[in-house]
Amino acid sequence: MTITPEFLENLRSQVSLSSVIGKRVKLTKKGSRFIGLCPFHGEKTPSFNVNDDEGFYHCFGCGVSGDAISYLRETDGLNFIESVRELSGIAGLAMPEIGPIDKAKQERQKNLLSCLDYAASFFQGNLGKVDGKRGLDYLKERGLSEQIVAEFRLGYATHSGLFSHLQQRGYGEEISRLAGLIGISEHDGQKYDYFRDRVIFPIENRKGMVIAFGARAMGGAQPKYLNSPDSPSFSKKSVLYGWLQARERVRRNLPLLLVEGYMDVIAVTASQKAAALAPLGTALTEEQIGLAWKLHDEPILCFDGDRPGQNAAGKAIERILPILEPSKSVRIATLPEGKDPDDIIRAEGGNGLLRIISTASSLVDAAWYRKASLYDLSLPEQRAAFWQEIRKLVRTIAHNQTRAAFGDEIERRIQTMRAVSRGGNAPFRVGNYLSVRRPKTGALRRSQTLLGLLIAFPQITIDKIETLSELDFGNLDCEKMKNHLFDILIREPDLDEDRIRYHLSESGYKELLIQIDETKNELLLNQKELNVDMDEARQRIDEIITLFLTPRRR
Ligand code: UTP
Ligand code: MN
Repeated sequence: MTITPEFLENLRSQVSLSSVIGKRVKLTKKGSRFIGLCPFHGEKTPSFNVNDDEGFYHCFGCGVSGDAISYLRETDGLNFIESVRELSGIAGLAMPEIGPIDKAKQERQKNLLSCLDYAASFFQGNLGKVDGKRGLDYLKERGLSEQIVAEFRLGYATHSGLFSHLQQRGYGEEISRLAGLIGISEHDGQKYDYFRDRVIFPIENRKGMVIAFGARAMGGAQPKYLNSPDSPSFSKKSVLYGWLQARERVRRNLPLLLVEGYMDVIAVTASQKAAALAPLGTALTEEQIGLAWKLHDEPILCFDGDRPGQNAAGKAIERILPILEPSKSVRIATLPEGKDPDDIIRAEGGNGLLRIISTASSLVDAAWYRKASLYDLSLPEQRAAFWQEIRKLVRTIAHNQTRAAFGDEIERRIQTMRAVSRGGNAPFRVGNYLSVRRPKTGALRRSQTLLGLLIAFPQITIDKIETLSELDFGNLDCEKMKNHLFDILIREPDLDEDRIRYHLSESGYKELLIQIDETKNELLLNQKELNVDMDEARQRIDEIITLFLTPRRR
């Protein structure tokens, strides 16, 4: 590579930065500088400064700064060479010679991308043909509009046919294999299409070029999703699905969600309530978090409320803290157990999604609460262990000021907690931000289990409302929630579980709901009964009611 520092210097002096940036950002001259609305974060008053003399930009709002090369890199997703090429074009300078090896490599890369693009169009075209009807029906059945299918370039891979089309188009065996589109049978050397009878999700890089595919099986074939193998043009852990689509929505000021699956990205995008990105079947990497931060200062991470989902949330928090920077963060949303954003949108529309977004917790809350939930904070030695662990977590933050700010916040919470415990037997209040919790006694567990069932089966609750009203739950918070639940149901008897949860969580019972779910998890894990039906629920509720009544009678 022969791009010299001199060449770059010359390039910088030839290109006026304000004209590069001015193509998309409205800049106003102010003395020797230009100012405008920062393209890197949403703002209403301009704090983005461009200095042509020095070829440098800086935003006093979000702190970004850089030169023309970094600007193109960050906003257009170009790499270094591509940015230099683009700027050379603007300046009318000839790009320095690139060595012959690089040229061959470049040709190959170009050919690879064009092969992948051809395949994407081929799959897309199948949706309009008889052979692809199955795929189109499937996408329709999942509620996708023609428009969104087109925007994401979704397609269908029939059982065979791609390879011969590739050959006709002059894409040989080598390039087709490199693109991950064909496989070779080990036992007879036959070539076959890698993706067969699957709905195709083209995976694009940040410039919108297809670099790989995800493919969903129809029916129960395994694996459910098949992804292109990693290749020179595709490294799974460095890519987020849905980049350009998300960028467009974030620019319209929608919140950004990080979700798990292809269908979640598409459903969220189609809902018009948020933008969404997803990793490709793996846990979020640091690199992907860094990428998401290029689009939004505070993406919302969505996790399933089940145990694996919550473990994944814990891991994500541990991964994010070390790389936190000022004004960058995440929020953590917990989804109802076993539901993904696509399920929620299908069941409740965009409002379900807005509810999830509005109940997302801040990073500091999520970190604090997750750690706290591992300890019995009524015991001094456990409190000490909790403080030690939460402080340890804060120390993993590499950025000095960010670590200090988090440290202050955590110390403040620890002080409050100490003050509460010094207050003698003053009850630990559930529901305050401290999340200090009582140990779960048998009776508490019982009340929480009952509440969980009552929330899940409102019809039964209404049937038994009189008996239940007489029952003393023996715990102030549970008792309060019970009465609140009755108030809600008396007013709106048709509410379903999710809506009831929403109401309760809006009325200050968020923490208690989380505890109820934990209790439920523990019980479910012990008893392996994952689905309780109406009759079983009725029986369980009756049993628990009896348990409550028995001791008092004796
Ligand atoms: P899920 O199994 O949660 O499925 O996988 P989903 O996204 O909800 O899919 P639908 O709604 O049933 O169509 C989440 C993500 O994990 C990856 C894919 O990226 C998928 O979107 N995955 C899943 C795989 O890579 N391979 C698999 O076999 C399954
Ligand atoms: Mn799904």
